[in-house]
Amino acid sequence: MSSEVNDSTVILALETSCDETAASVVMGGSDVLSSIVSSQIDIHARFGGVVPEVASRAHLEALLPVVNSAIEEAGILPTRIDAVAATAGPGLIGALLVGVSAAKSLSLVWNKPFIGVNHLEAHLYAGLLDDPSLQFPLVVLLVSGGHTMIIHMKDHGDYTVLGRTIDDAAGEAYDKVARYLNLGYPGGPVIDKIASEGNPHAVEFPRAMMHDGLDVSFSGLKTAVINHVKKNPEMHNVDVAASFQAAVVDVLCAKTIRAAQQVGAQGIVLGGGVSANSLLRSEMTRRGNEAGFKVALPSRAMCTDNAAMIASAAWHRLKSDGPTSLECGAYPNLKLAAVPR
Ligand code: KG4
Ligand code: ZN
Repeated sequence: MSSEVNDSTVILALETSCDETAASVVMGGSDVLSSIVSSQIDIHARFGGVVPEVASRAHLEALLPVVNSAIEEAGILPTRIDAVAATAGPGLIGALLVGVSAAKSLSLVWNKPFIGVNHLEAHLYAGLLDDPSLQFPLVVLLVSGGHTMIIHMKDHGDYTVLGRTIDDAAGEAYDKVARYLNLGYPGGPVIDKIASEGNPHAVEFPRAMMHDGLDVSFSGLKTAVINHVKKNPEMHNVDVAASFQAAVVDVLCAKTIRAAQQVGAQGIVLGGGVSANSLLRSEMTRRGNEAGFKVALPSRAMCTDNAAMIASAAWHRLKSDGPTSLECGAYPNLKLAAVPR
């Protein structure tokens, strides 16, 4: 297969693992011809989080218009598409099945290869998409609503997880703290916004496991924030948010830079929804550069869930492993590894 996959290979990718319905057309693994994202945030916000059954139904309704827009915006005919990809996991089973079934159907109808993509692997590619000059080995901090991992990316498809959260994911901590402060869902963007008006030193919240290995923990921090607010109800939300965010970012920067030093990385890459965070972006750049590392930040649109990163990961997998069998299902608990073929 490898000889047929090149800079002009066009992949249509679908992403439906959680609460964004997305489709994208990418050429050669990094040339994004279109990237359409239809967010369900407004639908789920009234429930304070993603409701799986509601998500599956919303994906069903949104998918075909989103796919049509992606093809139209790319300015190509469907016949120009060389392969069709979809996120096969991890994620919500019903939501994943919508994208996987649609992509397999299109691949059958058009007689083109299908590629099942690992969503976590795709988040790693989001940073590389925006800066193709990055050299391996890299350390990638993957911080989303469901995952927090520090990954040693030695090459395409060659990863070792150096550290991970032992309890809450970073985005989950943001969402839970925001919910407690009645700031709405999702919590990350709103805490990010109001934290800029607050004092990050108002409360010195704990930096758990700061000196123990490369794993992280955010559950104690979340509890510390809740206890502090209970005892000090007069405290302004902006100061709580700024102090909470300072603790999260301090730990993430310290551990990621330590990991990069340990493996002799050429650079540090951020990925996942939380990497849209303003303080994380500026502090990782400042502290990473000070430690001698190039720091690559995906554009904000590439941080949160999108299908361009799925298409990019699909291009690399198609090149290395060939197509995925149409027996491929949806894998809600998929780890950072190849999708079962
Ligand atoms: O990667 P993503 O879109 O979906 C998952 O795969 O989980 O990440 C969503 C998470 C949510 O927890 C959201 O609160 C968080 O990313 N997030 C942020 C920011 N924007 C999104 N967290 C902190 N600061 C932000 N600006
Ligand atoms: Zn994600």
